[in-house]
Amino acid sequence: MRALLTRLEQAAELDRIGDRLQRGVLAVLRPQRVRDVLHGVWLGHPLHPALVQVPLGAWISAAVLDLLPGQRRAATTLVAIGTASALPAAVAGANDWAALAREQRRVGLVHAAANAVGLLCYAGSLAARLTGRHGIGRSLGFAGLAAAGGGGFLGGHLAYRQAAQVNHGVPDLRLMSDGWHPVADLAALPERTLLTRRIDDVPVLVYREGDRVSVLLERCSHQSGPLGEGELVTVDGHACVTCPWHGSTFRLDGGEVVRGPAGTDQQALPTRVVGGVLQVRLP
Ligand code: FES
Repeated sequence: MRALLTRLEQAAELDRIGDRLQRGVLAVLRPQRVRDVLHGVWLGHPLHPALVQVPLGAWISAAVLDLLPGQRRAATTLVAIGTASALPAAVAGANDWAALAREQRRVGLVHAAANAVGLLCYAGSLAARLTGRHGIGRSLGFAGLAAAGGGGFLGGHLAYRQAAQVNHGVPDLRLMSDGWHPVADLAALPERTLLTRRIDDVPVLVYREGDRVSVLLERCSHQSGPLGEGELVTVDGHACVTCPWHGSTFRLDGGEVVRGPAGTDQQALPTRVVGGVLQVRLP
């Protein structure tokens, strides 16, 4: 299985169709506001993994009911709920997928294909159940669950082995020691400028406006892009940084994500000034 998954990650032959699909997704899911909603920017949490709970839960429950006598109606209802709720989950997933790295997109492509087969099976299952052919409906349901289960397995691989759409900044916190760390003399920090400093080998982003200073982890929560090389922008009157890699934008006062593809905030560090020296510590 490990060898198979590694081959899939390296399957460059998938890139032709993957690149085309990526362009299609980016062209259809516009404007950026729509993409941000689907990334989960408003939630501060990736939306796709939250949405997939509904179809998977409904389909698994339907499969259990299919094994029990006298539960046709309840099973049909669950299959209908699962099938309808799979569509928004798929759209949110496609949106996240389009912002992944190439080797992640290869696995994501097969993840999506398996889930599409699962969805088709369940659509057929629902049609069969609604026309009284419950035997066929059950068989198609079990086939759909097998396909969606395979798709779910690949989704787990994407998240846990390939670190797709997880917060890439947080591991840096494990590398910082406890206690307050000096960063710089406050008076020596230029204003309205993105600066990078290191705390215990962890890069942090420092931004000063008058006496107010904010410090964020510097590696972008989306995929570790260098925010210190990003662009200083203003969004709704707030100073923000835009990541140079995929354009995620975070408020500098607190790290709130205001534009995806990042679905989580950028970690901010508590600050204080002692004797004119800016200090930070772990949150
Ligand atoms: S690394 Fe992708 S937006 Fe920053």
